Parts: sequence; C-alpha cells; structure tokens
Amino acid sequence: MGLVNTIELLDHAEKHSYAIGAFNVINLEFLNGILEAAETVHSPVIINIAEVHFSYVYIEQITPAIKYMAENARVPVVLNLDHGMSFETVVRALRCGFSSVMYDASKKPLEQNIEETRLVVKMAHSVGVSVEAEIGQVGGAEGGRKTARARKEFFTNPEEAERFVAETGIDALAVSVGNVHGFYEGEPELDFELISELKRLTGIPLVLHGGSGISDDDFRQAVKCGIRKINFFTELSKMATDRMKELLETSGDTLIPDLLKEAKNTIRNVVRGRMEVFGSAQACSLPGNICPTGGSCVTCSVCESSPEPKPASSCQKKTSPLSNDEITDIVSRVVSRIIKGV
Ligand code: 13P
Repeated sequence: MGLVNTIELLDHAEKHSYAIGAFNVINLEFLNGILEAAETVHSPVIINIAEVHFSYVYIEQITPAIKYMAENARVPVVLNLDHGMSFETVVRALRCGFSSVMYDASKKPLEQNIEETRLVVKMAHSVGVSVEAEIGQVGGAEGGRKTARARKEFFTNPEEAERFVAETGIDALAVSVGNVHGFYEGEPELDFELISELKRLTGIPLVLHGGSGISDDDFRQAVKCGIRKINFFTELSKMATDRMKELLETSGDTLIPDLLKEAKNTIRNVVRGRMEVFGSAQACSLPGNICPTGGSCVTCSVCESSPEPKPASSCQKKTSPLSNDEITDIVSRVVSRIIKGV
C-alpha cells in the first residue's frame, strides 16, 4: 500500500474514539520494533522523525527503508516529520516522500506562526501530505536526560487555537495542556477540561506530545477528551538502553548483534503496550476499512504463532516453506541435469 497521510486515519480514530501512537525513529531497530508491534496488534502507526534527531538519522538514507516496509506492511503506516523548524526542512521531507509533516513555529509570535503554517499547508496539501502544527508551547526535550515541568503561561489558549486552525487549514493540532517532552519533574498534571475545550472549539484531531511518563489512566482520559495522536519517544529510548545495560552486566561478552536485537524487542514490547492503552490495538478491524489488506489484517501467517512474530513487511519467510516432496523433486531434477551434463 505504501505510506498514507494522517487525514483518513485520524478521522477513523475520531469515529472510534482512540488515538494513534506516533513513535520516533532514529535507526532501523526503532523502525522494526515499532512496525512489529503495530502488526502484532493490528494497529495503524505513525513513524516520527524529528528534526532534533537529524544528527542521528539521515532521512535520505532511511526513508527508502521505511517506504519499503510500509509497502509490505499489513497495517497503515504514516511517515511524519516531527517538529520541522524551517521551510527548508519541510521541503527536504517532502522531497524524500514523507506523507505527513509537523511544522513547529510555536515559539514565534502568533501572527507569524499563522502566516508560516498557512504556507506550509498550501505546499504540503498540494502534494497530498497532511500537516500538524502547534500553538502554545510544549517544553522539555525529547530523549534528553533533563526533567521538565509544564508552565501554565505556555498552555494553549482556546481562542487563539480556534483562530489558528481556521486560518491555517491544518489537519491536526499539537496542544500544550500540561505535557512536556522528555522526563517529567514530578507527576504530569494534564488539564482535561482544556483538552475538551480545545476539541470543542477547533473540531480537529488534537495531538499530545511528550507521551513518556504519562500514566495509563491519564492517556485514556485524554483520549476521551479528544486526543487522537500521541507522540512517544523518551521511554522507548530509556527502556531499550536499560535492557542493553542489563545484558552487558549479566553477560559481559554480549556483542552488538544481540544488544541491538534486544533493544528492538524491548521497543516492540513497549510500543505494543502503548497501543493497547491508546486504544489503537485492533483498530484495523473496526468498520471504516483503513487496513491495506481490506480488513484481513494479520501478521505473517508463517511466524504468527512463533514466540517472536515478525511483521509481514519484514518477514523473510513470507513464501510458504517447500514440502519434503517438492524438495525431493527439485533435487532429483537438478541431479539428472548434472548427470546429463546440461
Ligand atoms: P517524549 O519523548 O516525551 O515521549 O515525547 C515525544 C514527542 O513528543 C515527540 O515529538
């Protein structure tokens, strides 16, 4: 099927009251872990690549791999530029074939944010790419070690949000409602009333950045109030690192292939858990047919029952194994050709 934009998917999430996870990717272990999770629980998925991670991931190099995986995946896959900070970055992502972009001018004055975002929408929509933008400011830094606390003065203002959405034509709105990127200082306190008010006034899918550290109950409540996309990264990075440390401590001679494999498996398990909480697990089989296989969304039938099911997109055993009779037949034909000297 290839990559899809967020518009139909978020519409489906809206109709069925769930949120789609957007997980940041910095290398193939993240990509494969995330896609394996999505395929195992039959969930649509958004692959985020953030501009702040460009020093770790070269988008021209990884995009072909993501497209290949999306083409073979049995679940809908979006490739989204996360926090694109300039027109140049947005154009670079469009040229690579991203199916969605987030343009973040949230630190600029409102008028400038509106004007620049409107231009990005015009440009991206002309090539079928969906646009997310932010108003208010979500603080902190994803993947960083520092903790941060949300500051009320940076919360999204409902009237400004209503105007921003109406004047820019964006498809999804990132909001600041008590969330921050990276680790939280103390417990996160989401303002659920504000989320509901923003939903009522803007009428479009809302996006919650800074998913790491938010409790399952708070996620469920936020989804009830209108959050339809949840960005999540720092916890994936931490859990994968912890697992690698554990392996090195228990078996000091573990080499990089096994460390990376375990990192990928850890990412898969965490993502799978988040998808259950966000309500997107099994969403591919809900009415509305977002699944590229027309509803018969399954992991590769060959390894579905194995302890580590592969996504259909990456399974190298996709074709069914040859039976013993078929192998005997092929071998005897090859041998007789050799004997005949053909
Ligand atoms: P966390 O790293 O805090 O989960 O946030 C991710 C994010 O919001 C990416 O835009």
